[in-house]
Amino acid sequence: MGSLFGKCCERPTDTGKTIDLTDSLAMSNPDQTERGLPPVPLNGICDILIVRALYDFDAITDEDLSFKKGDRMKVEDDLQSNDWWVAYHLVKKISGYIPSNYVTKDDNSIQAQDWWHDLERKDAEIQLLLPGNITGTYLVRLASDRKSYVLSVRDYDEKLHLPMVKHYRLRTIDNGGYYITPKHLFSDLFELLDHYRSFSEGLCQRLIRVCPKERPVVHFRELEINREAVVLIKKLDSGCFGDVYLGKWNNSVNVAIKTLKAGTMSCDDFVEEARTMHMLRHRRLVQLLAVCTREEPIYIITELMDKGSLLNYLRDNKSSTDRLKVQDLIEIAAQVSDGMKYLENCKYVHRDLRAANILVAANKTVKVADFGLARLIKDEVYEGQGRVRFPVKWTAPEAAFQHRFSTKSDVWSYGVLLYEIITFGRVPYPEYPGRTVLLNIEKGYRMPKPTEPVGCPDAYYEVMLQCWNKKPEMRPTFEYLFSYFNDFLVASEHSYLE
Ligand SMILES: Nc1ncnc2c1ncn2[C@@H]1O[C@H](COP(=O)(O)OP(=O)(O)OP(=O)(O)O)[C@@H](O)[C@H]1O
Ligand SMILES: [Mg+2]
Repeated sequence: MGSLFGKCCERPTDTGKTIDLTDSLAMSNPDQTERGLPPVPLNGICDILIVRALYDFDAITDEDLSFKKGDRMKVEDDLQSNDWWVAYHLVKKISGYIPSNYVTKDDNSIQAQDWWHDLERKDAEIQLLLPGNITGTYLVRLASDRKSYVLSVRDYDEKLHLPMVKHYRLRTIDNGGYYITPKHLFSDLFELLDHYRSFSEGLCQRLIRVCPKERPVVHFRELEINREAVVLIKKLDSGCFGDVYLGKWNNSVNVAIKTLKAGTMSCDDFVEEARTMHMLRHRRLVQLLAVCTREEPIYIITELMDKGSLLNYLRDNKSSTDRLKVQDLIEIAAQVSDGMKYLENCKYVHRDLRAANILVAANKTVKVADFGLARLIKDEVYEGQGRVRFPVKWTAPEAAFQHRFSTKSDVWSYGVLLYEIITFGRVPYPEYPGRTVLLNIEKGYRMPKPTEPVGCPDAYYEVMLQCWNKKPEMRPTFEYLFSYFNDFLVASEHSYLE
């Protein structure tokens, strides 16, 4: 087999992200509130100077300003950057750098409130069902029609002995008020929530505690950092191209550090790619934080994903008593397609999508990792030492034979990943050695519907086959796949409670 990874020049066309916190704007034109992003709240700060902390923050460098949730600060300089601002603490009376995604505009808009979460229905459920939350924990979010609000409340099913989440659509009245049941009308959302904090009246539970928000990643101010500031603490695992460590940066931030064996890729090519990878921001992508490229081994520093790779996670879970259910597996498929939908919009090709490159967070949600890296691996490294390290079983035929990598070849790989998910991490095409797979694929062979360890729903297998359409243009988009799996999940549950 010849060189399988040719050069490609896809680049994100637009990685800028703004969330408009203006209530009226978000409601009249909901598309302006981009999903899937940490709450980077301000779109330019000229007219908004006072911010309130959404989370505690401990300084990670001497120039940073530590603060506690709820503290108020005056932004002095937005540094023309979305990541860090210089701010003045109104009580401590000192200035320093603050991560912009840890604060929000300090005003009465709905999106500036603790109970407001920029989450889809399923993510709201994940967040509410996290351990530590009690019955009566709640949040408010946009409905999937993105035109109305929904109150999501953690409840407890006495029969099943399980926590669960109920969703109540918040209906509007012509004069601008809100209600859940027409018996009780409220002039605004604040009044409505106040009422249901005191009385359950028709709700499954009285509202007891606001759901804590998922703490976003703190980005580093520099992409290239000093190697001396990085300490490798413990080896987590090894891949073909190097080892991965748990480590600390600046003695303060826990990170994952991938060390690349010398000669795996050119430092110059990598630095250029890293600039792009660093700009890719989505809560379903493992965030690249920094790199050390001035000497080998190259260090790739990313957010730490506590539960390691999805592949190992699935395999370990396969025979456990609380094995993941089909519903949970579909949830994982939906989350991966969410991250891939973002890459698709950015016109960025992953090239190595498979369960080993999906990582699992402490809260058991998953994120896509190692996007774009495969393009940089030198051909001789892939083919050298008599061992093909190239992921043949995941690669679309046009990518393997003609180097035509595209979002559509990623969709092919996603189909193989669906197989890995539903089989709890089986190696695809178990009956074929890697080198014969592509030849069989060319002849029209496709993996049959998996039957164990859990039954694979027909609708799930249908999608796998669509991803393996010989013609790339006939394969679905990730946008379609994301809504498909999300609808799959919603359709199998009760919808809104009136
Ligand atoms: N950010 C991270 N947080 C926690 N663990 C990680 C992280 N990145 C990688 N790992 C662990 O390190 C392992 C090796 O990752 P690596 O990307 O080097 O290899 P791989 O994707 O498993 O395989 P290959 O070498 O074929 O690409 C992963 O399986 C995972 O267990
Ligand atoms: Mg990997």
